[in-house]
Amino acid sequence: QELKLNLEQIEKGGYEHFMLKEIFEQPKSIHDTMRGRLLVEEGIIKMAGIWDHLERFKNANRIIIIACGTSWHAGLIGEYLIEEFARIPVEVEYASEFRYRNPIITDKDVVIAISQSGETADTMAALKLAKERGAFIYGICNVVDSSIARITDAGSYTHAGPEIGVASTKAFTAQLTILSLIALKLGKHNGNLGNAEFMSLAAELSAIPKKIEEVLEATHELTQEIAKDFISATNFLYLGRGYNYPAALEGALKLKEISYIHAEGYPAAEMKHGPIALIDENMPIVIIAPKKGHYDKIVSNVQEIKARKGKVIAVVNKGDTQVKAMADYVIEIPETSECFSPIVASVPLQLLAYYIAVYRGANVDQPRNLAKSVTVE
Ligand code: G6P
Repeated sequence: QELKLNLEQIEKGGYEHFMLKEIFEQPKSIHDTMRGRLLVEEGIIKMAGIWDHLERFKNANRIIIIACGTSWHAGLIGEYLIEEFARIPVEVEYASEFRYRNPIITDKDVVIAISQSGETADTMAALKLAKERGAFIYGICNVVDSSIARITDAGSYTHAGPEIGVASTKAFTAQLTILSLIALKLGKHNGNLGNAEFMSLAAELSAIPKKIEEVLEATHELTQEIAKDFISATNFLYLGRGYNYPAALEGALKLKEISYIHAEGYPAAEMKHGPIALIDENMPIVIIAPKKGHYDKIVSNVQEIKARKGKVIAVVNKGDTQVKAMADYVIEIPETSECFSPIVASVPLQLLAYYIAVYRGANVDQPRNLAKSVTVE
C-alpha cells in the first residue's frame, strides 16, 4: 500500500494532483504535438495522415466532426478553424446524437472523430456507421493504438502523453493544436490561405507553448486568490464569442466536472435571450474578452452585467483598459491570433476550476460519477 502511494507521488512529479501536473505540462504537450509537423521556417506542415489523403479532404462535400465531452468542444473550435482557413463546410455533432438519428452520410464526406481515450463507445459507434456508409474516417486520438485509432482510415495522434486526471486539460489543448495544423494545411493546399497569412499564422502557432508558460507563471497564484472568493458559489456563467464561445463551454464544463458547482457556457450575444435574467450580485460571470474578436461587443456585455451587479471575472489581453476598468477580477493573457486564443485562454480557466474544486475539498482527479473513458452507452 505504502509502495503504491509512493509510486503515485512520483508519478505526480511533485504536484498535488495529476490534473495540476497536466495543466502545467501544456507548454510541453503542445510543443510535442507540433514537433516534426510544423516547420515554420520552411513554411511546411507535415502530417502524413492528411498528406496521404489530401484529395479526399480537398474533394470533400463537407467534414463532419464527431466527439463527446471536452473533445466535442475542441471539435467546435475545429469547425471555426477549418471553415475560416480551408473554406470546407464543417458540422460538429455529439457522437451519441449522430448515431441515433439516421444521419445523411455519403462517400464524399470526411468524418473526423476526436477522442482522447480512443475508446468512447458512442464515438466508436458513430464512426462505424459513417464507415459503413462510405465516408472517409479520420481519427484525432491521444491514446496510441486505441480502438478508434485502429478503425479509422487515417489520423493524427495528439502527443499530449498520458492524461490521468478525469477532467481533460492537456489533451484538449493538444486537440486544438492538431485541428489548427489541419486547418492551416488544408487552407494552404487548396489555395484559400495565402502564403503570407499562412506564414504568419504558423509563426503564431509555434509561439503558443511559450505564451502558455507565461500564462501559467502569471496566473497560478492569481487564480488561487480568485478561487477563494467563490468557494460557496452555486452557479457560474461563462461567456465568450467567436472562437472563444466553445472555450466558454469548456471552462464551464471543467468547473462543473470537478467542483460540482453548476456552470453554464453561453455565446456572449445570447446572454440577452435568457441568462441575463439570472444575473444579480450573486452570479459570477467568467467572460473571455481578448482584443481580437468582437471586443467592442463584449465590452457592452460587461456593461450589461455590471448594470445588474453581476461579478465579472474577465480574461483579457495584457494592456487591456476598457474591460479591466469594469471587471471585478482580471486575468491577463498574452495576445495571439484570434483563432489560437482559446488555447491560451483555456489555461487560466482550468486553473480556476482546479482551485475552486480543491478549496471545496473535492476529489479533483476522480470526480464523483465520472469516468476517464466511457466505454458504455
Ligand atoms: C468522458 C471524460 C471527458 C471526455 C469525454 C470524451 O466524459 O470524463 O473528459 O471529454 O469522456 O472522451 P474521449 O476520450 O472520447 O475524448
